[in-house]
Amino acid sequence: MNQNSPGTPANWDNVSLTELMDHIVESHHAFCRNELPKLDALLKSAVEKYGRGRPELKQMQAFFARVSKDLLMHLLKEEETLFPYIAELEVRLRQGIPVTWPRFGSVENPIRLLVEDHDHTGGMLQMIRRLSSGFALPGGDSEESADLTALFDAFSAFERDMREHIRAEDDLLFPRAIALEKAACGAGRPPGSQQPGPNSRRDDQKL
Ligand SMILES: [Fe+2]
Ligand SMILES: [Fe+2]
Repeated sequence: MNQNSPGTPANWDNVSLTELMDHIVESHHAFCRNELPKLDALLKSAVEKYGRGRPELKQMQAFFARVSKDLLMHLLKEEETLFPYIAELEVRLRQGIPVTWPRFGSVENPIRLLVEDHDHTGGMLQMIRRLSSGFALPGGDSEESADLTALFDAFSAFERDMREHIRAEDDLLFPRAIALEKAACGAGRPPGSQQPGPNSRRDDQKL
């Protein structure tokens, strides 16, 4: 969890999904949007200063550009499509108002795609780590060593937060949202909906 996280309940099972989504957006999404430009600047500077002797930095930069672009799209998909639907589901269930199916059919459909995005991001971040030989630093007190320490520390912090972020969604939010939709809609489920299940993720893509 990053240091800017708002109050974090010890047991997320006892808070509403709206509160959980607010936490995800205010903590993890904000952290992503804050850190991506910083990482971009650190990488750009490292490539300019040390890229000639360290070709892996240029490769890391290419992977990072993909991660950054894909992640920003991913956050928008959650904030503009899935999260508002889950919040509305929660309100309707609480107030006993009938639920109408959204245009994406069932909450399981966007969730399946978002879990795939998480796997993809996890794989790309692992590639970045491998390219740097596990963020191995040159020895000594050189400027290069200090610059790369700042870069790799920032990447490690980003990885840690992504791990928390993905767990909060895959293991807490998404299963509860699927259960909530079932409770709200009963047997009236759309054809073709299936349980995505976080365990369907490939092990080699886990962060
Ligand atoms: Fe998210
Ligand atoms: Fe996500």
